[in-house]
Amino acid sequence: MNADSLPLPIAVLISGGGSNLQALIDGCATGMIPGRIVLVISNNPEAFGIKRAKHHHIPTRIVDHRLYANRAAFDQELARLIDQAEAQLVCLAGFMRVLTADFTHHYAGRLINIHPALLPAFPGLHVQRQAIEAGARFSGATVHFVVPEVDAGPIIVQAVVPVLADDTPDTLAARILHQEHRIYPLAVRWFAQGRLQLEGNRVRVLNADEKEQDVLIHPTGE
Ligand code: GRF
Repeated sequence: MNADSLPLPIAVLISGGGSNLQALIDGCATGMIPGRIVLVISNNPEAFGIKRAKHHHIPTRIVDHRLYANRAAFDQELARLIDQAEAQLVCLAGFMRVLTADFTHHYAGRLINIHPALLPAFPGLHVQRQAIEAGARFSGATVHFVVPEVDAGPIIVQAVVPVLADDTPDTLAARILHQEHRIYPLAVRWFAQGRLQLEGNRVRVLNADEKEQDVLIHPTGE
């Protein structure tokens, strides 16, 4: 629980399928995350994740970036809705817009993202293809605090997967996504429990118990 022993109010920003959103919804429902998703925002009106949220009676908003004059105006509308919902943590979950420095500063220390590679390797887009073409033997997923620089910021948790000889970007993406669904709820749980401590660019997880460590030591879940 957070300091008040109340479920942490969380906003989730999406652009697409929302399988990571679903993992967070499920984590809150089971009590694994001592939190409550108070708002889901999508910039894409067609995002399937919006249907997922509605199915669970979570408030949703569409903020279509194409209707805003510039990034600043778009981000201001996002922040207005997030603050109105009184969210204390903002989770980017497949949110495909670059955020302004003003936005990231406003939510400094309470804005997190999931990226389908082992940062700082392979930032940006098409990262599964990047990993295959680089001949990497391992890739994975990273949950990190968001800073103005894209796909940078203090790392909270990572999971590793092998890159197999016959992998395509799609098969590798599926293997990584499976791990994303394990580590994103874990990172949010730690945040909600007030167990993440920033030390410069490093994140210390306070009092990680044996079972949680197990997730990290055996990241493939085998
Ligand atoms: C995930 O791989 C996420 O890491 C990336 O986009 C994908 C979104 O998947 N940024 P979903 O919308 O959560 O299913």
